[in-house]
Amino acid sequence: MIKKFLHSFRYFLLGNLREVRLSKHFSEIIIKYKSSNNLNILDYGSGFHPSVIVYTSKILNENEIVANISCMDFYNEEELEKLNKLYRHINFSHLTNVENKKFDFIIISDVLHHIGIDKIEEIKILLAKLSKLTDFVLIKDHFEYGFVSRTLLRFMDFIGNYKDGVSIPKSYFNKKSLSSLMNDLELEKVHDVKKVSLYKNIYFPFSLKKFQFIHLYKR
Ligand SMILES: C[S@@+](CC[C@H](N)C(=O)[O-])C[C@H]1O[C@@H](n2cnc3c(N)ncnc32)[C@H](O)[C@@H]1O
Repeated sequence: MIKKFLHSFRYFLLGNLREVRLSKHFSEIIIKYKSSNNLNILDYGSGFHPSVIVYTSKILNENEIVANISCMDFYNEEELEKLNKLYRHINFSHLTNVENKKFDFIIISDVLHHIGIDKIEEIKILLAKLSKLTDFVLIKDHFEYGFVSRTLLRFMDFIGNYKDGVSIPKSYFNKKSLSSLMNDLELEKVHDVKKVSLYKNIYFPFSLKKFQFIHLYKR
């Protein structure tokens, strides 16, 4: 009941602006850095309402790019059947071992903070593993700047994710912790979208642009 209400409330408040804008950013970056018009893309933690990757694939298609897209998350059998039937051009699967696959881009959008920033070793192992399979890792995540931003981000994560049973983060990256993680992993930042605007300004007393980042990393 409360989950259904939160789903409708979020849609009433925000619509699908986040998904439309993120897919625009993601496709622009992929188009800029692609080495061919035939791409293998993995969306790791694609979500239970995977609009971002669905819209991204549509834009790539409109740009005559053949994108072979794989999506992974904690889907159950029923969800997998539904998603694979609904989006026949995308392959949805369980989070399984991907070690012998190769991708041009791996997208990790708003996933790392759900693993838990306090579990930095787990994040490091995951990124080290995924980055070996791809030329580029595209990461969208949040920056916190202190108590107020952390609380606001947690509130938004609750509204956005409680309905899907996704764990609500306790904290987020700050610029220093992210940069130290990427240095340890020897991943080079090649693209940085500054001031990512995903929500209508009228809903928020101050700009949320600096709370979001979209980075492209190269091995
Ligand atoms: C906020 S949703 C993001 C969905 C989509 N990527 C997007 O940007 O709209 C976070 C997703 O991360 C997934 N997730 C959480 N922990 C994960 C993990 N350890 N590995 C992979 N995915 C995870 C959740 O199941 C959830 O679907």
